[in-house]
Amino acid sequence: MSFSVPSLTIFEKLIPRMLRDNSVRDVSITLFNKPYDSPIIMAPIGVQSIFHSDAETGAAKAAAEIGVPYILSTASTRSIEAVAEASGEGSKRWFQLYWPQDDDITISLLQRARKAGYEVLVVTLDTWSLAWRPWDLDNAYLPFVHGVGNTVGTSDPVFRRKFSERNGGMAVEDDIVRASSEWSADVFSGKAHTWEELKVLKENWDGPIVLKGIQHPEDAVKAWEAGMDGIVVSNHGGRQLDGAVGSLDMLPEIVEAVGDKMTVLFDSGIRTGADVIKALCLGAKAVLVGRPWIYGLSVAGKDGARDVLRGILAVSVNFVIVMHRIRLTFGRIWIRAWVSPVSTMWRNARSSVFARSRIQEIALLRIDRIVMRMTSLINWYQAHHIDIAYLAFSVFTSSDAYTIDIPFSIALISVW
Ligand SMILES: Cc1cc2nc3c(=O)[nH]c(=O)nc-3n(C[C@H](O)[C@H](O)[C@H](O)COP(=O)(O)O)c2cc1C
Repeated sequence: MSFSVPSLTIFEKLIPRMLRDNSVRDVSITLFNKPYDSPIIMAPIGVQSIFHSDAETGAAKAAAEIGVPYILSTASTRSIEAVAEASGEGSKRWFQLYWPQDDDITISLLQRARKAGYEVLVVTLDTWSLAWRPWDLDNAYLPFVHGVGNTVGTSDPVFRRKFSERNGGMAVEDDIVRASSEWSADVFSGKAHTWEELKVLKENWDGPIVLKGIQHPEDAVKAWEAGMDGIVVSNHGGRQLDGAVGSLDMLPEIVEAVGDKMTVLFDSGIRTGADVIKALCLGAKAVLVGRPWIYGLSVAGKDGARDVLRGILAVSVNFVIVMHRIRLTFGRIWIRAWVSPVSTMWRNARSSVFARSRIQEIALLRIDRIVMRMTSLINWYQAHHIDIAYLAFSVFTSSDAYTIDIPFSIALISVW
């Protein structure tokens, strides 16, 4: 499944189409050369035991039951190995790294995750320090200092050894609160890593690496230059930087910058199947869903998480058929059929027949400019995800002209 020519208006509304064959409902995709049943992934969520005793092991089982990849958070209340075992053979699991300052510990986490069958490394960049969260402060909520949400760390052999060396032979279990605060101090140290340091991860992880928390097209390009395989365009569900731009607002620009070079994933605000489709139409390859299934987990444990995701999947499947058909039938075909022959014809004509006198040259340059601008206009429309097919019809037939010709003309004027 691919959504390279999306079907959204400039107002990011979906344009429904009718009387399409929907007998095949395939929402499968390929990510990092591996097949996935759907474009939905469970976002990494920390400290799940506070929502329900099923916690991360339950959520991972739920994911496995419906063929959705599960991303295990570093801030989990269950270990890397326990979650892998719970999710079972054949399940898809990814590991999310809150990147410690201590390289030995980082490498140990990566090795454990790889050994336990986690396929993709998701490195969250926006949480080198926990944000100023007034609600949490009002409620004195910081589970880590109570020893909750650090199991990935406190079960790590390198961390345990270093803790013991620093504390006169003490075991983590002897003072779990102290161990937890040492762990948090390393993971949420307040010191951000830098682009150069990504090489440590590259050298120690032989699978795909995805950077989570990218919001600027330049950072997306830097990720690609650093040899990363993907990014998650995410503002952490609005939980980290107060006043940060909406994730969806940045998606088109980021896709334009790197969408053809690396895998662009999206999260923050996906609530329904329609949201999934919008993100895909704007160029994301798949989406991460966070709070909806956590609410499900809170209400009904593992089954609640699973059923929430099932609901989102059901709606996505229905939508996808419609959008997919539109793309296949009209989008690219029209672009190819129209833009390339015109510009090729023009280039050929220009070099062979014309270009004799200065006046002709000026005239030719003008026409050149018009052709170029038409092409860039089309690209602009594509980049901004207008339904090209719809445009094509409106420009060349009269029936729909009133609805679409106005923005089209405005765009023409502004381009010229
Ligand atoms: C309670 C909670 C805990 C989270 N914990 C993590 C985490 O441990 N690691 C991480 O990378 N992101 C974490 N996130 C962010 C999610 O992975 C994701 O980016 C965000 O929730 C997506 O937005 P949504 O909740 O609107 O779907 C957390 C989000 C919530 C709501």
